[in-house]
Amino acid sequence: MAEQPVSKKKKRAPKAPELLRGFKDILPEEAPYWQRVRAAAGVLLADYGYGEIQLPILEATSLFKRTIGEHTDIVSKEMFSFLDQGGDSVSLRPELTASMARAYIEHGMFNRPQPVKLYSLGPAFRYERPQAGRYRQHNQLSMELFGNAEPSADAEVIFIAYLLCKELGLDVTIHINSLGSNEAREEYVRLLKEYTKPKRSLLCEDCKKRLAKNPLRLLDCKEESCRSLFASAPLLVDNLDEESKKHFVAVLEHLDESSVPYELDPYIVRGLDYYNRTAFEIVASVAGDGGVSDEASAHLAIGGGGRYDGLVETLGGRSTSAVGMAFGLERVVSAFKKSKASIGSEKKPQVFLAQLGEEAAKHMFTLFETLRSSGLKVRANFGKSGLKAQLELADKLGVVYAAILGQKELLDGTVIIRDMENGIQEVVDLAKIVDELKKRLKRGR
Ligand code: HAM
Repeated sequence: MAEQPVSKKKKRAPKAPELLRGFKDILPEEAPYWQRVRAAAGVLLADYGYGEIQLPILEATSLFKRTIGEHTDIVSKEMFSFLDQGGDSVSLRPELTASMARAYIEHGMFNRPQPVKLYSLGPAFRYERPQAGRYRQHNQLSMELFGNAEPSADAEVIFIAYLLCKELGLDVTIHINSLGSNEAREEYVRLLKEYTKPKRSLLCEDCKKRLAKNPLRLLDCKEESCRSLFASAPLLVDNLDEESKKHFVAVLEHLDESSVPYELDPYIVRGLDYYNRTAFEIVASVAGDGGVSDEASAHLAIGGGGRYDGLVETLGGRSTSAVGMAFGLERVVSAFKKSKASIGSEKKPQVFLAQLGEEAAKHMFTLFETLRSSGLKVRANFGKSGLKAQLELADKLGVVYAAILGQKELLDGTVIIRDMENGIQEVVDLAKIVDELKKRLKRGR
């Protein structure tokens, strides 16, 4: 019988897992920038009386439908929604304001002295088309001020956002508009539809849908043909109700007084339905930033917000005026990295701790901690590698000195300090290691 050919087909190694499209790892090299941004925000917001609130990432889908709006892009196309094991529809939050309002109601915060000022940091999820500065998971710093209807509250939020940008060395302009009252806006939408309908065939496909479902969004279409079409459309600011007009002027006066740079932008409508009156976006200009402020992607604002006086009531709470804003931290960090205020690379380690022999190895944790807690920047390889490999690593890390603890030194109560540049070694008292290293580092080689 003829022998069957043995299949030579090799088993393929399983494909290494990859990041989902539009998601991003933040590596240790980038972390110091994030830490600096978060720390600056934390200090500033605490100084202005904002308390941190930590909110869940998963909420009932209905929370976002009722607040952001069923016909917005965010709710109709971009939410990560699924049924949980109990059959309830839940969603990864696409933003934080709806959760803030839910928490304000749920924890009876209207009983606290008003205004209630809150901020929160964390991820938000939107199934958007990934591009420079646009992710499917991004991080927000959201700040909200509940219980104050005055124009000064709008200006306060904008002022603090501007201060944070300044502290991070970002060159920004606030693009600001007023969306008026709900009634005035309804009337305006009627005018806008009237203007647009005869030109329907000239609209992009998205705008044709917007005309039917969310006409206000026609105004911030990025297609050149639509932009020129709406250049002569009636404007919302020209159709404001008297109260909103007064409010808007007062907000601008506050901004003038506090030297916050702004531009009136009648095309800002925002992508969430809950706004009334003030609406704004913060645009950073960084030379050659490849995405955050190029002409082509000027819509990639680093932050945005506005007034949302009806939101708490929509969710069943007491009527509560509110205003807030959120930064997109990926975009803030990207601009911060290029700014003058940016941190240099992380401080280099100064000392490498090397060991020789098992007994010495057991002392490594304690010795490392003695050096670290004295303020020295130390590195070590706590494993079993030989001295040569350890010194090679020390060299790569660019430390100034290596401290070597061997069997003999351990018995004598000493340690060797090796100058990594010239290889000169000195034996010093183990009990005085911190002083000896600091003395040498201070005087330089
Ligand atoms: P938003 O404008 O939708 O507003 O988002 C706030 C910021 O998050 C944006 O300005 C942008 O910097 C960033 N961002 C949004 N989507 C993405 C994305 N896909 N990738 C990267 N960054 C993104 C809100 O979410 C409102 N909750 C803001 C607010 C707070 N209004 C009142 N209070």
